[in-house]
Amino acid sequence: TLEVNTVKTIAKIQPTMYGVFFEDINFAADGGLYAEMVKNRSFEFENPLMGWNQPNSDRHSFNKQSGIATTVKVLENKTNPNFLRVIIKDDKGYELINEGFRGMGIKKDAKYNISLKASNHDGAIKKINIQFIDKDKKVLGETSIVPTSNDWQNYTAQFTATQTEAKAKLKITFVGAGTIDLDMISLFPQDTWNNRKNGLRKDIVQLLYDMKPGFLRFPGGCIVEGRTLAQRYQWKKTVGDVDKRETLINRWNTEFDHKPAPDYFQTFGLGFFEYFQLAEDIGASPLPILSCGMACQFNTGELVPMDELNPYVQDALDLIEFANGSADTPWGRIRSEMGHPKPFNLKLIGVGNEQWGPEYIERYKVFEKAIKAKYPAMTIVSGAGPFPDGDYFEYGTKELKKLNAEIVDEHYYKNPKWFRDNVTRYDNYDRKGPKVFAGEYAAQSVAIASPDNKNNWECAFSEAAFMTGLERNAEVVHLTSYAPLMAHAEAWQWTPDMIWFNNLEAYGSANYQVQKIFATNKGTDLLAITKDGKTVIGQNDLFASAVKDVNSKEIIVKLVNAAAKAQEVTIDLKGNKLQSRGIVTTLTSANLDDVNSFEFPNKISPTESEIKLKGDNVSVSLPAYSVTVLKLKLN
Ligand code: AHR
Repeated sequence: TLEVNTVKTIAKIQPTMYGVFFEDINFAADGGLYAEMVKNRSFEFENPLMGWNQPNSDRHSFNKQSGIATTVKVLENKTNPNFLRVIIKDDKGYELINEGFRGMGIKKDAKYNISLKASNHDGAIKKINIQFIDKDKKVLGETSIVPTSNDWQNYTAQFTATQTEAKAKLKITFVGAGTIDLDMISLFPQDTWNNRKNGLRKDIVQLLYDMKPGFLRFPGGCIVEGRTLAQRYQWKKTVGDVDKRETLINRWNTEFDHKPAPDYFQTFGLGFFEYFQLAEDIGASPLPILSCGMACQFNTGELVPMDELNPYVQDALDLIEFANGSADTPWGRIRSEMGHPKPFNLKLIGVGNEQWGPEYIERYKVFEKAIKAKYPAMTIVSGAGPFPDGDYFEYGTKELKKLNAEIVDEHYYKNPKWFRDNVTRYDNYDRKGPKVFAGEYAAQSVAIASPDNKNNWECAFSEAAFMTGLERNAEVVHLTSYAPLMAHAEAWQWTPDMIWFNNLEAYGSANYQVQKIFATNKGTDLLAITKDGKTVIGQNDLFASAVKDVNSKEIIVKLVNAAAKAQEVTIDLKGNKLQSRGIVTTLTSANLDDVNSFEFPNKISPTESEIKLKGDNVSVSLPAYSVTVLKLKLN
């Protein structure tokens, strides 16, 4: 029998408690959430023709004789210097093909918007035909554009896919002979999240929305830092007109050689404005993390000298103005002109991702002083470095505590057992010290970031066990997020990941289901749940936490049975009167190795049933290896 005191609140559960951490790793932005289908649309990748093909096979031998496409660099156009010059010698129908991000996923009867910039020299090109093709060159939808102007002009057209195909390509055929210049050849599905033109993939955002996340941390991760300082994430380069945002090599470009991704670049079509908008759409507090003047310490570890730190600090101050300033301020005006006159209500800002050592502390101090001087109400998230068992982690947390840091970000990628064994991690954390942001964690079934890691059920319920410990310590743990958030099934650099997608579909892993069940049942007030007066922290492989939701007037009990056999539990609810019926939601799977997949996306998904109370008691059967949430209505 477990006991819950339904009256005495131990702590408030922060609205930010369970959030999501977005990083452009595993093709999460370009090729993923950002619904652009053309790879290298503005010819700014290191190899400017990457992703583009001028077919030269026998069947297309006319192509070779017919024309040539090369890129031209105009250095004055600092952020988008390259464009494509196509010189067509005869009227045989010169072709260009874009391969998309591991192909293009198209859906029967769905509409697609193509746009491009063109300068048609002397009107030589009469028409540009645009087609979806499959691997056998069968046409799966088409339209055309008539480039009427000598000067650069934007052209758009819409067409419909006639078939569903995961690996379509975009074929562009030129009618006429002469020279035409092209740039920003872009293709989006019409159906995007919130119907925003050239927006985000609806199916993926829906999965995030369904979680009701308390915050959205962005844009990373290591990509914030860059391998070098020059390659760090600079938010100012990601706002304003999309075609003026400067492309950057992604820090995860060739990180792991099991799936090299030399074609991984950031176009920043999904930039800071879009991140803030996404946070607002899914009801999450925005939590941007900025470079603190240190490149990734796993790579070059390059440092900006202290006397050159100012532009980095200014970026943070300007970001706050961009998010919250009125339209009369320089950065607030840019936000307003981008279509969001109202502030984004930014309350949290992160300084540095996963930095450590005295170099971090001295830089953090400068940021803190400047941010607090101008924006005293802003809450700053700092970091103590990765993996909470190194000397540097101890050093970082000690120093940050001395500085009265507000929230410290902790990261842990460990085996599933570690999660079950460390459920008391925060029980003895100083309640008066910095609060905790468990910003990146995920159980690794094989080894950290091993390509063989699986999002299996053992990892997921072990995280759930650990999360009861996070919740029980809501007084000190204010934000938590699984990492990484998402991965393209054919273009990932790191596994496990919470959401998997290909060009047509997306599904939530077992770990997603665990995150969702906690996030959608977070409650508002922490209650004590005990067995014989002791906290439930793994006795008989049972883990538990309990909350009250003062808004929905519910008592919510979370129970994790990590044992190989079912357990019967009776819960004695002391205090408030409860209605006689409640709801039990269960996540379970027979085998530790079970996973969700494209084929069986709901193999591990919640089942709901009704439960009857006997007076103040409720008895529930917890299946082997299960996560159970009990919801009981207050009278
Ligand atoms: O989540 C993957 C990476 O793990 C993040 O980019 C980094 O912060 C951590 O090392």
